[in-house]
Amino acid sequence: MTYNLKQYEKEIRDRIGEKRFLHTLRVRDTALELAKIYEVDQEKAEVAGFLHDCAKIRDHDELIKSANEAGLLLTKEMIKAPQIIHSYLGAIYARDLYGIEDEDILNAITYHTTGRANMSDLEKIIFLADYIEPMRNFDGVERARQLAKKDLDAAMYFALNNTLKFLVDHDTYIVPTTVTARNYYKEC
Ligand SMILES: [Fe+2]
Ligand SMILES: [Fe+2]
Repeated sequence: MTYNLKQYEKEIRDRIGEKRFLHTLRVRDTALELAKIYEVDQEKAEVAGFLHDCAKIRDHDELIKSANEAGLLLTKEMIKAPQIIHSYLGAIYARDLYGIEDEDILNAITYHTTGRANMSDLEKIIFLADYIEPMRNFDGVERARQLAKKDLDAAMYFALNNTLKFLVDHDTYIVPTTVTARNYYKEC
């Protein structure tokens, strides 16, 4: 299994912009570090990290249009929490445009924003790499970095709690998947 994603770099960069593209490279590198620690397939971690935001189209109308064109059914949750759309659309692009067939990679892309209960190690690694990549700067990020290197489940619990606090503080709609994920990792 060898992926050659270099050929899609320009297309992705043009779609998501330079700033977001550089973020995806940092997430790829952070995911690789975590994959080494937890003995997860390093290539899959790099591919999922590189592609996780491949559909992060900034303009809302453009995003909705692209989702419709790609055949993504917009659920009630997606309408209420549009920040999750790019994750689902990203998995569609990964499969249809970039030839990714591996379910674990596709799930890691799909759930990198909301999380979910019972995630695979690869899914957790991408969620956390997105959360702690070196340019992230928020209260608790150092703690999240420490935990991510020590215990994926504890890091997920910490990150999900922090995310939920942030969403509450900003009076944002919260998708049930994230609440379910948080309760799941509380028990882990
Ligand atoms: Fe994202
Ligand atoms: Fe991201």
